[in-house]
Amino acid sequence: MRKNIVAGNWKMNKTFPEAEKLMKDLLAYKSKESTHCQVSIVPPSIYLSLAREIFKNKEVGLFSQDVSKHSHGAYTGEISAAMLQSMQLDGSLVAHSERRAYHRENDTLAKEKINALLAAGLRPIYCNGESLEERKAGKHLEVVKKQTETALFGLSEEEIKKVIIAYEPVWAIGTGETASPNQAQEIHSLIRNLIAEKYGRETAEEISILYGGSVKPDNAKEIFSKPDVDGGLIGGASLVLEDFIKIIQAFD
Ligand code: PGA
Repeated sequence: MRKNIVAGNWKMNKTFPEAEKLMKDLLAYKSKESTHCQVSIVPPSIYLSLAREIFKNKEVGLFSQDVSKHSHGAYTGEISAAMLQSMQLDGSLVAHSERRAYHRENDTLAKEKINALLAAGLRPIYCNGESLEERKAGKHLEVVKKQTETALFGLSEEEIKKVIIAYEPVWAIGTGETASPNQAQEIHSLIRNLIAEKYGRETAEEISILYGGSVKPDNAKEIFSKPDVDGGLIGGASLVLEDFIKIIQAFD
């Protein structure tokens, strides 16, 4: 059966000493408490090597915030899947809504990045979700369907099982607005059903679909209780250890 996952996306936050402290505090927590979900962090890439050192026994999963579609070469500022793999990381976010908004990423590019990660033996956390305008126009189901099909449906059955999906309605990210548990469930079950139609129910049941967008200690439990919500991609609340721990404990 699929795994429950709580992943903290730090985005562009924390100085080096702050990042080191947060990682060490998280390690201290993980060393004394057992958790009922897989815990991962997605720090700025410049801190991934520090993170690998601190979590050397893989107590916490480590993901990059982005990856290049290219394998290597003259692409200043980019990071390849092979580099992530050589540091024994777990994978990378792909097509986070902030990458879509500020770097014009789309699902065709997402598909290439997903392929690059899978070829290196890494796991993509593929993010999708509709904008406020699209939801207001009642197009959210259609938008997420198209995104999912474009980015994922060229994969083989074995490949898609390695993908983690994060549904992140753009209007709920960093805004304090959260999708209601029922709104999240509606889209999560849509995604799972699309996968089931294409790859079979058994495969669809193995894929973790996370919700992201203003998950906080006081709403995590209710959102995670929905049958097709397998955890969360947590932004703001992952920067404060106490809040992140409370969200992890929503699975207790
Ligand atoms: P947020 O971000 O929890 O701050 O809304 C979630 C995300 O973008 O991954």
